[in-house]
Amino acid sequence: MPVDTELLESVKGFLDPEEGQRLYETALVASQLGPCLEIGSYCGKSTIYIGTACQENGSVLFSIDHHRGSEEQQPGQQYFDPDLFDEGRNRIDTFPYFMDTIEKAGLQDTVVPIVCKSAIAARQWTTPLALVFIDGGHSFEDAFTDYSAWAHHLIPGGYLLIHDIFEDPKKGGQAPFEVYKLALASGLFEEMPRTKTLGVLKRRLF
Ligand SMILES: C[S@@+](CC[C@H](N)C(=O)[O-])C[C@H]1O[C@@H](n2cnc3c(N)ncnc32)[C@H](O)[C@@H]1O
Repeated sequence: MPVDTELLESVKGFLDPEEGQRLYETALVASQLGPCLEIGSYCGKSTIYIGTACQENGSVLFSIDHHRGSEEQQPGQQYFDPDLFDEGRNRIDTFPYFMDTIEKAGLQDTVVPIVCKSAIAARQWTTPLALVFIDGGHSFEDAFTDYSAWAHHLIPGGYLLIHDIFEDPKKGGQAPFEVYKLALASGLFEEMPRTKTLGVLKRRLF
C-alpha cells in the first residue's frame, strides 16, 4: 500500500495493521464503484487506509465522527487517553488530531470530514455508497443505529465492514458481532473471509 508506515504507526488508533491492509484492499475495489463512508474517524488511522484507496481511484471518503469519543474513551474508562482531553472545553476532542493526520497523509482532497453524530448525518442522506465501515460507538444501540442508518445506502456489490467482531465474549464486547449477525440474517449480504476482528460482507447483486 502506498502509505507511509511511519505515519500510520504514529497515529493513535485501534486498528491492527492486517485489518488496515484489508480495509485498503476492499476500498480499492469498492471505490471504483462509488464513494466510501466510515463511522468512527477518531484520529484518522482507518481513514488513511480507506482514503488512500479512494484517492487512487479519484473517489471520495465521507468520514463521520462527533470527535467527542465513545463511552469507553471518556475519563475514568478503559480507553481514555489524556492527550486527547481538551481541558478548556472539558471534553475529549479528537478533531485536531484527525485533521493533522489527513494533512500529513495528503488526503485533503479525498476525505470529507462530517463532524456530528452518525444518526444526524444519516437523516437526509441520499448518496449511494460503495463501502460502509462501521467503527463508531460500541454499545448495541450505537452499532445497531449505524447499521440501520447506513447499510441500506450500499449499492449492489458494495461492502459493509464491521470492526471488533468477537465471537468469544471473553475477548471483547458483543454489540458489533450482534449487528454483524443481523446483517447476515437479512439475506442481503454474502459473508466474505474475516481479517482478525474485521468482518467483511458484500451486498448481494439481486
Ligand atoms: C473506536 S473509535 C474509531 C477508531 C478508528 N476507526 C481508527 O481506525 O482508529 C470510535 C469513534 O467513534 C466515535 N463515535 C462514537 N459514537 C458516535 C456516534 N454516535 N456518531 C459519530 N461518532 C461516534 C467516537 O468519537 C470515536 O472517535
